[in-house]
Amino acid sequence: MKKNIALVGFMGAGKSAVGKVLAKRLAMDFVDLDAAIEEKEKRSIAQIFEESGEPYFRRIEKEVVKEFSGKEGQVLACGGGVVMDEENMARLKQSANLVYLKTSPEIILKRTQSYQHRPLLNVPDPKKKIEELLKIREPFYARADFTVDTSDKEIREIVEEILKRFAA
Ligand code: S3P
Repeated sequence: MKKNIALVGFMGAGKSAVGKVLAKRLAMDFVDLDAAIEEKEKRSIAQIFEESGEPYFRRIEKEVVKEFSGKEGQVLACGGGVVMDEENMARLKQSANLVYLKTSPEIILKRTQSYQHRPLLNVPDPKKKIEELLKIREPFYARADFTVDTSDKEIREIVEEILKRFAA
């Protein structure tokens, strides 16, 4: 097995919730890359987007991916856009087993509707935005080592499914 496990997928896929439980089960460290960015910047993701723009956020995101790809024994919950950058992808592929948590647009909409902290979905028609982004990103997420459909599953079930795949 490679040194880390990286969970990728769209916003609202459950990467952080699944990652925490998975890390505990495997006695690994859990790292939420968005939280690491916020800590580094001492401000929220929403503030970074608003004050410094998305390209700046992506630069910091890349630094954080590089930093944690250089360590071992971690479950990494990756921000939804991490896979769109070739260098991020190369670093993650090299240092981690990548698991794509796949979720339908309808469920993503339901899970993200009540939160305002995701600047990309803070738009008049979030459903359309989710569909557009998913269409572009799906081929990148699909480059993961394996995919788990999370749509109508509980966290516990998703974790079991991941553990089974690793044991196989
Ligand atoms: C983003 C997803 C967010 C966060 C930022 C951009 C994206 O992370 O990194 O708002 O481009 O999909 P989550 O997937 O953890 O919500």
